[in-house]
Amino acid sequence: MASPMRNLLNDPDRYLQSFRLFLANSTEHQCMQEFVERQLATLIASIGNGKTTINILSVGGGAGEIDLLILSKVQARYPGVTINNDVVEPSGDQISKYKERVAKTSNLENVKFTWHKETAYEYESRMNAEKKSKKWDFIHMIQMLYYVKDIPATIQYFHSLLETQAKLLIIVVSGMSGWERLWKKYGSSFPLDDLCSYISSAGLKRILDSAGLKYQVYELPSYMDITSCFIEGSKDGELLLDFLTETCEFSKTASPELKRQVMEELRKPECSEERDGKVLFNNTLSAIVIEP
Ligand SMILES: C[S@@+](CC[C@H](N)C(=O)[O-])C[C@H]1O[C@@H](n2cnc3c(N)ncnc32)[C@H](O)[C@@H]1O
Repeated sequence: MASPMRNLLNDPDRYLQSFRLFLANSTEHQCMQEFVERQLATLIASIGNGKTTINILSVGGGAGEIDLLILSKVQARYPGVTINNDVVEPSGDQISKYKERVAKTSNLENVKFTWHKETAYEYESRMNAEKKSKKWDFIHMIQMLYYVKDIPATIQYFHSLLETQAKLLIIVVSGMSGWERLWKKYGSSFPLDDLCSYISSAGLKRILDSAGLKYQVYELPSYMDITSCFIEGSKDGELLLDFLTETCEFSKTASPELKRQVMEELRKPECSEERDGKVLFNNTLSAIVIEP
């Protein structure tokens, strides 16, 4: 009998392997880079006005690729100002990669890094227990809200930590992406456990509206090359399929019928476009910038 389907996060090594493969096969970071290059300077134009120190909190900062880019923009806007960059990140492996990246990067003399090896909720609980409510000039939560248990409460908490001219940046998959189509249709067949949930900008906007928060949305077009998912026996294809379905060894553990339906869905125009013999999954992201 086939083993039961398990959420990918139950196997942290396989999760990281599939996440890194996803980064290599998608324009995920390129579209974020473009957003940071083109829009961030304007968005953060006043976060540090009149300050000698700027406090930035990165929640789920991963290996720091995008964090360092953000820091370079803040440095360019506020030359010479001291920046405290705190990172809340539960994965020791990601933190090690982040530290290696910092060590290899020049021009970070005015940035003080502090890593907290904990989840967003653990950070909140620790701050509450210590009766601290440190305020921040910029908080970002990039592609991490899927992994918190209570999304509205998490947003409310971090929003409450914003200084008066601060901004909260959230990036999640767009309600117009292939993710939305795949997960709306098959999400209930995937093993979510309580480790992660599906959220797109469509759901996020509803949460922000009911909390009465003010925000702007930017769409970041992006795709993921999933051609290898259709090559029988391809190890990369299997890992990408795991990432798409958040399932450990989806190919081996999903029922043949579910697998057939998912593979068929992935090729549909609502999910992917075929170009030059490649299947390109619509990985469009939304960047949501929330006011204090
Ligand atoms: C998809 S990665 C995104 C990393 C990075 N922000 C980026 O865009 O490259 C999600 C990150 O969130 C972290 N994470 C998972 N659960 C979390 C939680 N409950 N609180 C904070 N971070 C979490 C993971 O360890 C991982 O590094």
